[in-house]
Amino acid sequence: MTISPADANWLVRAAGPDDQSAIHALVRSERLFPYGLGWRTFVVAEAEGGIVGAAQIRNHHDGSRELGSLVVTPGWRNRGVAEAMIGALLAGEIGPVHLVTAAERAKRFTRFGFEKIRLSQAPGALRRHFWLGQIGGGLSSLFNLRRPRSMAVMRRDGEASSP
Ligand SMILES: CC(C)(COP(=O)(O)OP(=O)(O)OC[C@H]1O[C@@H](n2cnc3c(N)ncnc32)[C@H](O)[C@@H]1OP(=O)(O)O)[C@@H](O)C(=O)NCCC(=O)NCCS
Repeated sequence: MTISPADANWLVRAAGPDDQSAIHALVRSERLFPYGLGWRTFVVAEAEGGIVGAAQIRNHHDGSRELGSLVVTPGWRNRGVAEAMIGALLAGEIGPVHLVTAAERAKRFTRFGFEKIRLSQAPGALRRHFWLGQIGGGLSSLFNLRRPRSMAVMRRDGEASSP
């Protein structure tokens, strides 16, 4: 699977074992929750011989599926790279997919069929992930690493709600 807009100098493809260290580096660079980062569930964006973006749909032990680990390197932002990675990941999804995102970014995901839900409506694994992220953000703020963010939980119900 590869996806690339006609005039783009980058492409999105399924990740392989050689992409593992780049995936880790991208997720670490934005201090995203470093959970379940095995390459098999990822797509990556490739440009100029390097990896400039990554995203995954991770499987939780309770069967829920979560879009996450979404990162594009600063020099490649605002060109549709994240949108292409999300589109590639969701193309094969027929059941519910959840995501946890910063509240100010929630609107951006409605174009993919996601709707904001209450935390209590999310699967248990998602709720635990949410609270771990909140605690991590709070602890980081104590050391001035970053400000805690207001978060939103979203759900996409599958093919019926695809854009
Ligand atoms: C969030 C993030 C992944 C977005 O990556 P991105 O590749 O810049 O995203 P896109 O280019 O697909 O979309 C960004 C904007 O560019 C616009 N855009 C898309 N293609 C474009 C193009 N060809 N020309 C100009 N603008 C374009 C989109 O409409 C979008 O606008 P919006 O913010 O009003 O929705 C990136 O900023 C990032 O890595 N941030 C840090 C980590 C993070 O916060 N991850 C999210 C966790 S949920």
